[in-house]
Amino acid sequence: EKIYIGVDLGGTAIKVGICNEEGQLLHTYEGPTETEKGSDTVVNNIEKYVRLIVEQSPFDWEQVAGVGAGVAGFTNVREGIIIFAPNVGLKDLHIREILEERLGKPIKIDNDANVAALGEAWGGAGKGIDNCVCYTLGTGVGGGIIINGKIYQGFSGFAGELGHVSVVPDLEAIQCGCGQMGCLETVSSATGIIRMAKDAVARGDRTSLALVENIMAKDVFDAAKEGDEAAIRIVNRAAFYIGKSLAAVAAVLNPEVFIIGGGVSKAGDILFDEIRSVFAKLTPAPIQEGLKIVPATLGNDAGMVGAAGLFIRS
Ligand code: BGC
Ligand code: NA
Ligand code: ZN
Repeated sequence: EKIYIGVDLGGTAIKVGICNEEGQLLHTYEGPTETEKGSDTVVNNIEKYVRLIVEQSPFDWEQVAGVGAGVAGFTNVREGIIIFAPNVGLKDLHIREILEERLGKPIKIDNDANVAALGEAWGGAGKGIDNCVCYTLGTGVGGGIIINGKIYQGFSGFAGELGHVSVVPDLEAIQCGCGQMGCLETVSSATGIIRMAKDAVARGDRTSLALVENIMAKDVFDAAKEGDEAAIRIVNRAAFYIGKSLAAVAAVLNPEVFIIGGGVSKAGDILFDEIRSVFAKLTPAPIQEGLKIVPATLGNDAGMVGAAGLFIRS
């Protein structure tokens, strides 16, 4: 029996999973990325965790048919290079070549959100659906486009960087980690939501968030659910720009489903209701027909499943 290993390389954790050919996740392991220690340590950690999970499982190293990795940043898929992953502290890293040499196995890499989209399309909220677009709302905002069951890569593998589409009008735009102004990520990521909350407190807006020591995105959603008006404004602003982004993407791609995942999506109805209402206002009726906006269902597993899927489903 062949097995595939899926690696989800994020800023704080490296998640490693063993998948069978049906995309079932059989074993998982999670260890720290240790971004602060530099790229050598990060690469060593990947190797360490991949070997460890196989040792801990009933499978043999010989059964490993490939290792796929989703990376939180701009990845050149054709060349197997991480171009720029600020949240993981990696730049211009020839990761495919390095891991191939270290592990002696075929390696495939792709963007984390592309891979999560593939996972969701394979075994999650997009199961049985050929055309879907997935957003992951976390530290950053990621995107993945699945066309005819496969990741759409674009020219260099940067297709689907939906978090870096500029949506905020000039006068309100702030600079994004990518260097550009007004990206969706600046307002609809956990980072953006936290920033808006701190700004509100600093401005002296009347809000219960002023009493929170170290504001997290979840605090903002909780306050909004309790009727805190400043918090509601922030949630609606984050949702507005997602809705605007969905409307633009829907007009370009006419997908059947939008899947929204990542930590921020756990906010639930308070976020989704507003996204759906903005989308409904900004999208031509024929494009809305039959289109669904749904939460992701694989949660933290989507990245591992999709990364293994790079071998099985592409
Ligand atoms: C990065 C994307 C990534 C996303 C989610 C963004 O900041 O530019 O490449 O997919 O965060 O991790
Ligand atoms: Na992407
Ligand atoms: Zn950006």
